[in-house]
Amino acid sequence: MNLIVNVDRNWAIGNKGKLLFPMSQDLKRFKDLTTGRIIIMGRKTFQSLPDGKPLENRINVVLSRKKTFKEEGAVVFSSPTCLVRAVRNGFFKPYTGSDFFVIGGEQIYRQFLPFCDTAYVTKVEAAAQASDTFFPNLDENKDWKSVEISNAMEQDGTEYRFVKYICLKNTARTNIFT
Ligand SMILES: NC(=O)c1ccc[n+]([C@@H]2O[C@H](COP(=O)([O-])OP(=O)(O)OC[C@H]3O[C@@H](n4cnc5c(N)ncnc54)[C@H](OP(=O)(O)O)[C@@H]3O)[C@@H](O)[C@H]2O)c1
Repeated sequence: MNLIVNVDRNWAIGNKGKLLFPMSQDLKRFKDLTTGRIIIMGRKTFQSLPDGKPLENRINVVLSRKKTFKEEGAVVFSSPTCLVRAVRNGFFKPYTGSDFFVIGGEQIYRQFLPFCDTAYVTKVEAAAQASDTFFPNLDENKDWKSVEISNAMEQDGTEYRFVKYICLKNTARTNIFT
């Protein structure tokens, strides 16, 4: 299972329901990596999507505890446990582990990090003026290692890089798909 996230210098990811640094090349990369795949997100991130609609050409999986939450074009699960059980029972076949992308926000990243083996992190070389949601700092996590770093890119005077991390620990994370 993969995750994809855009972080600022302090690993902040959002403020008041919005992205901090939406970069056009980053959004294009997000689309390229996730199209044809399964994206997993929290209800708040789902509702922050353009027009509050599922992203097209992807299976949109949304986590919500609200029993009444239903959205056309989205598959809703009431807990990570239910989702993992569905994966184990073959609900998403023929998709495999590398087809799953956790796309946020903070609550969902934190709960799904233990199931992820690859992280596509866009690191923005700036600090947001205000932020209320964060991603765990992978540079301070000895289980994660950066294996690819792109050249610096720039938009509107702000530099950013694509950094790919892999998890060194082979735990339950990979076993949910076997
Ligand atoms: N920088 C990035 O790459 C990036 C990516 C995505 C999002 N973001 C930002 O992140 C922020 C949103 O993050 P967030 O942490 O506030 O919200 P979130 O993770 O998107 O969604 C939280 C919601 O998910 C549901 N949920 C959480 N844990 C659950 C569980 N164990 N079982 C069932 N449902 C569960 C709950 O929905 P109910 O309340 O319906 O029960 C909860 O309110 C926004 O600012 C967004 O722009 C940034």
